[in-house]
Amino acid sequence: MAERIRASAMTQVASMHSHITGLGLDEKGRAKRVGGGLVGQVEAREAAGIIVELVRDGRLSGKGVLLAGPPGTGKTAIAIAIARELGKDTPFVALNASEVYSVERKKTEVLLQAIRRAIGVRVVEKRRVIEGVVKAIKYLRKRSPFTPYPTLGGARIVLETKDDTAEYKIPPEAAAQLYQLRVREGDVIVIDAETLEVRKLGRARGKGKKLYDIEAEEEVEIPSGPVEKVKEIVRTFTLHDIDLSLAARRALFTGLFALFGGEKEISDEVRAKTDELVKEMIDQGKAELVPGVLFIDDAHLLDLEAFGFLTKAMESEFAPLIILATNRGIAKIRGTDIESPHGIPRDLLDRLLIIPTRPYKPDEIRDIIMIRSDELDIPLTNEALEELTKVGVERSLRYALQLLEPAWIIARRMGKTAVEREHVLEAERLFADVKKSVEIVEKFKDLMMV
Ligand SMILES: Nc1ncnc2c1ncn2[C@@H]1O[C@H](COP(=O)(O)OP(=O)(O)O)[C@@H](O)[C@H]1O
Ligand SMILES: [Mg+2]
Repeated sequence: MAERIRASAMTQVASMHSHITGLGLDEKGRAKRVGGGLVGQVEAREAAGIIVELVRDGRLSGKGVLLAGPPGTGKTAIAIAIARELGKDTPFVALNASEVYSVERKKTEVLLQAIRRAIGVRVVEKRRVIEGVVKAIKYLRKRSPFTPYPTLGGARIVLETKDDTAEYKIPPEAAAQLYQLRVREGDVIVIDAETLEVRKLGRARGKGKKLYDIEAEEEVEIPSGPVEKVKEIVRTFTLHDIDLSLAARRALFTGLFALFGGEKEISDEVRAKTDELVKEMIDQGKAELVPGVLFIDDAHLLDLEAFGFLTKAMESEFAPLIILATNRGIAKIRGTDIESPHGIPRDLLDRLLIIPTRPYKPDEIRDIIMIRSDELDIPLTNEALEELTKVGVERSLRYALQLLEPAWIIARRMGKTAVEREHVLEAERLFADVKKSVEIVEKFKDLMMV
């Protein structure tokens, strides 16, 4: 269960940034004004492009990256874009430094697990699948006795190839994936018949695109042959996936079922076994290593032990690209009286390439809001867009983006087909940004303390 909760926290990080598909650079590595879902932040994106090249050339081993800038300036967004540029199946793991301090697990265990989640192993297998262009998709809702709102009860989907058409009833687990991947008509997808894993291969050529994903969503040929077939599928596991399955298998033999949460510690022995297995597969040409990105936000919250561990991890044989982010200037290194830039020890700083991010101009804020509303399929009137831009400038970009969905609900309740200024104002009235919520709590302090 715990495993699931963590996974969903991670998809949340991803869904705030679902519009980001890359760094949006041209062949010369220069940032387009709008590209890959990103707007502005030109120097940082170009620097990130160089990082991507260094990683590809294997010239960044033993080093890492630090994104430094105020909140809401796209640090997380750029880290995700780097992972996207490194390849579609490049693992991206986001961790907040505060998560390292858990009651149940050692700091180094949390970090090691995150590192192993951030290293992929690509394996080619023959699998039975259904594959085609989505011709129609309909989600089935069902009422559950346990929740007051309807849950996903599955989906009906019509898939088409150049030569075949077939309709399927998709079970809830796979339907949830379709929903998360935002699969829509015109997407080419593959569903594994056994594991029900869903993959989106791209947009079918000639099926139309949205305003901003012009260079983003890859165009793919419409598949030919039957919808149901055996296909060579490339799958990417993480070292952590393999650790878990080896540990589970061992647990099965020894009768220790305690491990299934994945939150418990995995033994060094199991990890060594995984490494051995993976090396063997790589030697035999059956697998390939896919180093991913481990993103650690609020890095100033790490302490010396954690920093030391990360420094060592950067040097090890299987290492992801470690990207730290912070919005602190000079700060004390946690647990000490030592002041250091960004609260990070000098010896680690020496290994980090630092990329600053800067606050956005109003025009950029407007464009980011437009991209997000397009991504969420929320139509905005010009006045609503202007109001949100004003909120973005005066309050924060993040708050402006967070208002989009509530404003859309308010608009629809009023029977409107687009968000208008008044709906934004109403959403603003109902939801506070951080500054405002702090003011309110301060004002009513005496009442709230009792
Ligand atoms: N340059 C950009 N282009 C498009 N979207 C952006 C850009 N910068 C930030 N965003 C979006 O704005 C929101 C806040 O940015 P985020 O990356 O979380 O900032 P930070 O990590 O610096 O606090 C996210 O939804 C993010 O995807
Ligand atoms: Mg962030």
